[in-house]
Amino acid sequence: MPTEKAQKAITYPKVGLKDILRSFWRGIKPQKWGLFFIIVFMVLANIVVVTIPIFYKQFFDIISVNGDKNAIASQLLMIIIKIAVLNGFVWLFFRLATLYNSAYQTATIARLKQQSYDYLIEHSYSFFSNNFTGSLVQRVNRFARAFETLSDRLIWDVLPLFVRIILTVIIVSAINKWIAIVIIVWITVFLLFNIVFSRWKLKYDILVAAIDSKTTGYLADTIANQNTIQLFNGQKFESRGYGAVTDEQAKMTKFSWNLDATIEAGQAFLGFAIQFLLFYFAIKYWQQGLITIGVFVLLQVYIIGLIHELWGFTRVVRNAYQSYADAKEMVEILLLPHEINDIPEAKELIVKTGLPAQAGEIKFENLTFNFNETRKVLENINLTIKPGEKVALVGPSGAGKTTFVRLLLRLYSPTSGKILIDGQDIAKVSQESLRKSISMVPQDPILFHRTLAENIAYGKRDAIKKEIEQADRLAHCNEFISNLPFGFETYVGERGIKLSGGERQRVAIARAILKNAPVLVLDEATSSLDSHSEMLIQDALNNLMQDKTVIVVAHRLSTIQKMDRIIVIDNGKIIETLGIASRRIFKRSRRRRRIRL
Ligand SMILES: Nc1ncnc2c1ncn2[C@@H]1O[C@H](COP(=O)(O)OP(=O)(O)OP(=O)(O)O)[C@@H](O)[C@H]1O
Ligand SMILES: [Mg+2]
Repeated sequence: MPTEKAQKAITYPKVGLKDILRSFWRGIKPQKWGLFFIIVFMVLANIVVVTIPIFYKQFFDIISVNGDKNAIASQLLMIIIKIAVLNGFVWLFFRLATLYNSAYQTATIARLKQQSYDYLIEHSYSFFSNNFTGSLVQRVNRFARAFETLSDRLIWDVLPLFVRIILTVIIVSAINKWIAIVIIVWITVFLLFNIVFSRWKLKYDILVAAIDSKTTGYLADTIANQNTIQLFNGQKFESRGYGAVTDEQAKMTKFSWNLDATIEAGQAFLGFAIQFLLFYFAIKYWQQGLITIGVFVLLQVYIIGLIHELWGFTRVVRNAYQSYADAKEMVEILLLPHEINDIPEAKELIVKTGLPAQAGEIKFENLTFNFNETRKVLENINLTIKPGEKVALVGPSGAGKTTFVRLLLRLYSPTSGKILIDGQDIAKVSQESLRKSISMVPQDPILFHRTLAENIAYGKRDAIKKEIEQADRLAHCNEFISNLPFGFETYVGERGIKLSGGERQRVAIARAILKNAPVLVLDEATSSLDSHSEMLIQDALNNLMQDKTVIVVAHRLSTIQKMDRIIVIDNGKIIETLGIASRRIFKRSRRRRRIRL
């Protein structure tokens, strides 16, 4: 049995670190100077931080010498004033860096989200049928979060660490080169230990992330199926299922945490080792009169500072790997070319409105369409629909009717053949102009979780109130809207779940009426409606179809009766075309019984 992953039709491009950095850079670029200043302030702040212990050294060297107390006290006072001034600079540089950072990071995150969204939403209908909504939402958010984490770690951890290491080594080597060498060796061992261990642990981090997605997936799937669970008394069954995945997650997480504890134990050991080694060398050199008490203090302050900085380095490495994985998932989408593109300098589709008898001819020429190269759906369709003609498309479920009308809107690209509207190939005109010329009422309309008024006005976003009200009346929406407590201002729930199927379809019809495009495509809902609702929708459709070229995927006899021609599709082919005269025969025919109209 092929796994779910193997069934996914999308092949993503390979993404490397360079691609991720390039994507981040596009977000950073407008504020590159902001980032530059943050780096400058952080470098300055850390330079000052490392110079301060030199004054402590002087302080202890002076204090350890026997002499005139008054003279010494005034010298010590001078030193602490210098230290205070330097601390003042550290404070200032950090504040400036923080200030610039909050402006640069928040705006960059917003830009990265916007760029991801703008590219994502232009992907094709097939792309969205092959990806879970939840996982796409997660990818956009994780991409922004990955940038935030990486940027934070680099600015606040990695950069200070390197400035401090370099300066500490330079200062210590000026005092004693052997002590400097001990520090260099120790830092190298510490960093290597961390990087090697984190790399080795990466496979377990990936497992932890995968099991986390599994738990989230289980949760999302069962919440979406809550109704089914209730109907089949599946609460206990699902609770056990969820328990099994959370148990698995707990086991894996515990293992990962134990590994973290091991690395901390190793780090602590390295920390003790360096302190011991340095004291050992320092005592020896002090004994020989090579170093002073002040150097002792200096070394101690540096080592404590370095241990403190290095302690978090495992977290930095782990965060970096995690962010890399998070960012990679979104960059894959950003590098995946859009499936359906306008040709360069695509022309506008021109369908002359106002004279329906002369405009809106649709021609399908040798149209063939397969899903995923292997799944044949439509085969060699040839059909001409005259301007203003009203055609019903009928056929058994799964025959390819919805696919056929989606091809007309260029939601898919034909495998071969072409579609012409008033002689213009739809593959050669801009998608925007094509979709402006066609109103589509889908089979199962999905609404935004916005108010009814906003949902209806989507057909013509600059519509005035009067137009919206008129569309509502014609689509018979006002019948149910007037019964709602907040009328037009009622929120319809996620995907429009708070409305019935018939009500949602009427909202979609109202949208189409507002849009008033010369070509109308209607994919009738398969679910049966009561006779009153059917009558209302029928009437709404009559209003909508006037003066337009119409293709209706019909599931109801009442719709078919209004049509000029009936096209029967079966198995991806047109098997019959019936004109007005044959409509009566069709009603009684065996064909009709076979497609269960
Ligand atoms: N995204 C997809 N990927 C692969 N196959 C698909 C996809 N969408 C639809 N199909 C398949 O294409 C065939 C035609 O589907 P289509 O939705 O066009 O049927 P239909 O004639 O509209 O059916 P109904 O009357 O039930 O609405 C079906 O067999 C379906 O399984
Ligand atoms: Mg369909």
